[in-house]
Amino acid sequence: MTHSAKIFVTRQLPPAVEERLANDYDCDFNSDDRLYTQNELVERASENDAILCCHTEQLNAETIQRLPESIRIIANFSVGVDHCDLEAAAKKSIVVTNTPDVLSDSTAEIAMLCMLGAARRATEGQHLVRSDQWHDWSPTFMLGTQVTGKRFGIIGMGRVGQVTAKRARGFDMEIHYHNRRRLDPSAEQGAIYHDSMESLVASSDVLSLHCPNNPDSLGLLDQKLITHLPDGAIVVNTARGTVVNDDALVDALKTGKVGAAGLDVFNNEPSHIHSAYRELSNVFVLPHLGSATVQTRDAMGFRALDNLDAYFEGEEPGDRVA
Ligand code: DGY
Repeated sequence: MTHSAKIFVTRQLPPAVEERLANDYDCDFNSDDRLYTQNELVERASENDAILCCHTEQLNAETIQRLPESIRIIANFSVGVDHCDLEAAAKKSIVVTNTPDVLSDSTAEIAMLCMLGAARRATEGQHLVRSDQWHDWSPTFMLGTQVTGKRFGIIGMGRVGQVTAKRARGFDMEIHYHNRRRLDPSAEQGAIYHDSMESLVASSDVLSLHCPNNPDSLGLLDQKLITHLPDGAIVVNTARGTVVNDDALVDALKTGKVGAAGLDVFNNEPSHIHSAYRELSNVFVLPHLGSATVQTRDAMGFRALDNLDAYFEGEEPGDRVA
């Protein structure tokens, strides 16, 4: 064992990641991959020095407050850290890290899948074939929306947003974006910056959300902002469900103001998502698969481990967020 530190691993991780963990640390694994309650998280954390967790663990202020003093670092197996109260961690001098960069490609792929699934009516098509109701082909059968050459609008031009823009350029799409800060021209790659959200939305035939969950982005795509979309626009969300006001989006999907949506993330996922997303045929849904490839999940695990290694070797972890 390279390090004497004890790691509480809250979920089952890919085999290659668990192998490295077991080689290098004394680990408390979750071999059943059970979702722990808040109390169990606190209990199991005792006598450990670090927690390696996912976005499925709600490390809110109260839970962090109750963590034993032995916990010195929370290494997240995720880029998003909205499940983890950074202020509460900082108050207890607990270091927090995340895993940026390594999931940008796989998340951008899912954004493209969501865009195409929504634009080309994949939900209806799948249903027809799978339920054996596909009996004809005709020139007017199941016509969708072509995205080639259309305007692709991005809210949140961080790492994932920028890779997604690159992929959308593969469809000859014109890239528009809104971000807190305008990017350098070299990073913009010709993308058109909008300093207001309304202006960006009005220029988006496809609107793709890539901003983190924080107080500024909560319910950002609401009824008011939706009125600025071109009629029949497509909405893609691979960021966090919290960025969308569900009632507003569902209303717009019902009236056709929003032509279709491709959603990989949801408010109250997995079990209590807005029921209309299961029912509406112009919604293409996935179960939070943005980073779900073997390559990416391994890379996320290794990145979390690099952060733990740095910390326990007395260095500053590369991906420290608190
Ligand atoms: C992330 O890393 O934030 C993904 O949503 C998976 O947790």
